[in-house]
Amino acid sequence: MIGIGAGDPEHITMQAVTALRQVDVFFVLDKGEVKQDLVDLRQEILRRYAPDGGYRVVYGRDPDRDRTTEAYVEAVDDWRRRRADVCQQMITAELADGQTGAFLVWGDPTLYDSTLAILDDIASRGFELDIEVIPGISSVSALVARHRVPLNQVGKPVQITTGRRLSVHWPSDVDDVVVMLDARTAFTGHVGEDADIYWGAYIGTPDEILISGKLSEVAGEIVAKRTEARQRKGWIMDTYLLRRSAPPAPDGAH
Ligand SMILES: C[S@@+](CC[C@H](N)C(=O)[O-])C[C@H]1O[C@@H](n2cnc3c(N)ncnc32)[C@H](O)[C@@H]1O
Repeated sequence: MIGIGAGDPEHITMQAVTALRQVDVFFVLDKGEVKQDLVDLRQEILRRYAPDGGYRVVYGRDPDRDRTTEAYVEAVDDWRRRRADVCQQMITAELADGQTGAFLVWGDPTLYDSTLAILDDIASRGFELDIEVIPGISSVSALVARHRVPLNQVGKPVQITTGRRLSVHWPSDVDDVVVMLDARTAFTGHVGEDADIYWGAYIGTPDEILISGKLSEVAGEIVAKRTEARQRKGWIMDTYLLRRSAPPAPDGAH
């Protein structure tokens, strides 16, 4: 599993480049309605960093997730199993014993990505796999770097969560939350909070959009920009950091 960074071909590490050059077969799960930009980035990475070729790219049909059920965890579990079936079938059919296969994973392979769980699922079926994970620059790292802000405040925790969870609740004991996978602009439910937002879409790509400021002041602008960009491109990937403002220092404190 090779992390390829969050959109900029220069996010890739030297370790990833070395690994890329040893691969016999690259596996891609294709959803049918492929996001061409995401395919293009993977192709660009192979063209730039593995120019000698000598590898094959194999596509498998990514099964659909059941989005109708309320049982989110069970639905994701079932989806992962069906994806594992497809991947196992691809690996068996396309990889000879001793050959190396790779999945190019967006961002960092250990953050909100199911490829590792899929490969573990296959390994647990008694299928012999030697799995290596090459870390990548996550969209979280890319977001805060582009905004030039630290991810954490001094000595404080940070929580990485989903839009689904933030729409239910922003925990009172975590002032800094990074929100991913948010199709519902969950930050709009918290505009009453005294907080800053650092928002980014398509980070690292030529379409990158960055907006930051007081949540109450910029929430509307983010929703408008997000809607327009999503319509124009047909898809969007955005991430943001919400930071509760520090309470005023007590009198005389510095
Ligand atoms: C399935 S998760 C994969 C995360 C990935 N493994 C990582 O390390 O960033 C997809 C989510 O990552 C975030 N994301 C990934 N790439 C992004 C980018 N270039 N700009 C903004 N958000 C991004 C979005 O929140 C998106 O919904």
